[in-house]
Amino acid sequence: MGKLQVGILISGRGSNMAALVEAARDPAFPAEIRCVLSNRPDAGGLDFARERGIPAVTVDHKAHASKAEFEAAVTDALIARGVDFVCLAGFMRIVSPAFIERWHDRLINIHPSLLPAYRGLHTHERALADGVKLTGCTVHFVRPEMDVGPIVAQAAVPVVAGDTPDSLAARVLTAEHRLYPLALRLIAEGKAKVVGESVEIASDAVDETARLFSAA
Ligand code: GAR
Repeated sequence: MGKLQVGILISGRGSNMAALVEAARDPAFPAEIRCVLSNRPDAGGLDFARERGIPAVTVDHKAHASKAEFEAAVTDALIARGVDFVCLAGFMRIVSPAFIERWHDRLINIHPSLLPAYRGLHTHERALADGVKLTGCTVHFVRPEMDVGPIVAQAAVPVVAGDTPDSLAARVLTAEHRLYPLALRLIAEGKAKVVGESVEIASDAVDETARLFSAA
């Protein structure tokens, strides 16, 4: 079986993208990063990709008259680079139902909370305000409703005394960098599959995902 051909969509610093790129440098990793695409020309992550010889593309949403045109240009850019699977990694544009349909079950996202808790923005502020003792991050397949879709894997992260939104975000981000490569690998190996509207994990991979419950 050939490697999954992956495109990563970013809008900013791209640390999750970097984690995926680093993981994919292992020849045994079952996915290849074909390109990194940003909607913002100044996204810091583009330089990181370029320095590693990965095509780094900008499709500026402001240069397109409509969301439909912008997304068509994104899809064209991905297809031109041989992409057959897309990872959103801090891509801060809401994607349309048409784009999601175009990439149905070939489009995943990472979100900084334990979904279905804290969909949307300001996840860490809201978790702290609620006094939760555990939060975390989720990789999920994308569906038209924001931050909803079959969950591939999650990592739980403790909230500790004195946490600020920034300190909590940093702890969750460390977990994200472990979680995203694992989730992509399981999908690429065929060990995480959408069945109905949830993801089934192969029995021999359950242990790996369970280890993330103590990520801190
Ligand atoms: C990450 O924490 C990611 O989970 C979050 O943005 C950050 C991007 O950081 N995504 C969302 O909030 C999506 N709703 P990065 O650019 O360093 O990967």
